[in-house]
Amino acid sequence: MTIVPENDTPFPENVDRLFTDCRVATMVSGRYNSMENAALAVAGDKITWIGPKNALPDPLPGNPPVTDCNNHWILPGFVDCHTHLIWAGSRAKEFEIRLAGASYADIATAGGGIFSTVKATRAADEDMLFNLASRRMAHFLNQGITTVEIKSGYGLDLKSELKMLAVVGRLQQAFPPHIEATFLGAHAVPLEFTGRSDDYVRQVVDVMLPEVKRQGIATAVDVFCETIAFSRAQTRQVFEKAKELGFAVKLHAEQLSDSNGTALAAEMGALSCDHLEYLSEHGAKKMADHGTVAVLLPGAFHYLKETRVPPVETFRQLAVPMAVATDLNPGSSPVFSMLPVLNMACLLFGLTCEQALAGATFHGAAALGLADRKGSLARGKDADFVIWDVDTPADLCYFTGITPLKQVVIGGKPIRLEN
Ligand code: NIG
Ligand code: FE
Repeated sequence: MTIVPENDTPFPENVDRLFTDCRVATMVSGRYNSMENAALAVAGDKITWIGPKNALPDPLPGNPPVTDCNNHWILPGFVDCHTHLIWAGSRAKEFEIRLAGASYADIATAGGGIFSTVKATRAADEDMLFNLASRRMAHFLNQGITTVEIKSGYGLDLKSELKMLAVVGRLQQAFPPHIEATFLGAHAVPLEFTGRSDDYVRQVVDVMLPEVKRQGIATAVDVFCETIAFSRAQTRQVFEKAKELGFAVKLHAEQLSDSNGTALAAEMGALSCDHLEYLSEHGAKKMADHGTVAVLLPGAFHYLKETRVPPVETFRQLAVPMAVATDLNPGSSPVFSMLPVLNMACLLFGLTCEQALAGATFHGAAALGLADRKGSLARGKDADFVIWDVDTPADLCYFTGITPLKQVVIGGKPIRLEN
């Protein structure tokens, strides 16, 4: 294990809290950069110093409160860069139908799947959605997730999409994790537009996007580019308008087939392309050329009993950054924690533990355009981290069924977790 003192900057004058006797994996540049016998100082909501404990001044200036970490590991809080955390209704029955042999696409084509969640989400009022989503957020926090992206996309009409994004706004006020809101109006062609998908895309472009912009309730725009959803040409229309309005863009791409959406998204400057099981070499090269992050979603792969894996080796060779995320949603990935995702990323997709952890931290932050603040531990970064009772960071990929979490710190503040 490498022991890298992170910096030799002088110890700061103002420290609000000091964490000592820890081991730290900074995940800077997606590497462990492990430090033993370390200490980490926080002022306000930022990290101000990380270094060897024996380099601490004695006495400590300002006599800050000190947390003894008992030699536990500190890692950046998890960044879950792809979720559909707000929904109503249940898809457990659909799970049973799929176990009996029906495919995800069959169910969607028959008006189930996403459409059943749309029906329930449209019917739920904002308070009900907020209450359902709050339980999920509390659970995420208990699992060490400190930054979350949340998509709309189960409304599919102006009123219901705005309702979902209003719920995201309430979650941003109510919970400590940083939340990024993404507008996914182009998630599926709503049943009332069957056979008229271009008309629906016009609604998204001419009505929904400008209103979402006017209300300032999302920062990014996502599209599901797939045979059962939207074409490349339709994706382009949505992205052109989104970019004109100043949104970041990202794409659900090559999940069930190769629509070559990734190349389009990369060329249009997408932050990330997500899923990617059916990605071609051409698409991967476009991602490399444009610095697009590949967001791998092994939960959806697992739950859909997919057999084709994303081209991880190609990503490695082309140095395409790989993030991993839960894709929490009631259909393809009812996964409420990063820990099983890390495990699946290793066992199903062949990532190393370091790559999986980098995907859940450093590259996850890059997928949200937040790499300068989140996802790694260094002086000047946001003080969002988790103290884990593990022998080595790899334990977080290796164990299943336990959450060996000791403390979550967000914005420099220890968070009281509720059960
Ligand atoms: O990321 N692929 C499209 N959207 C979600 C699934 C949504 C659903 O099935 O409700 C996904 O897998
Ligand atoms: Fe998704």
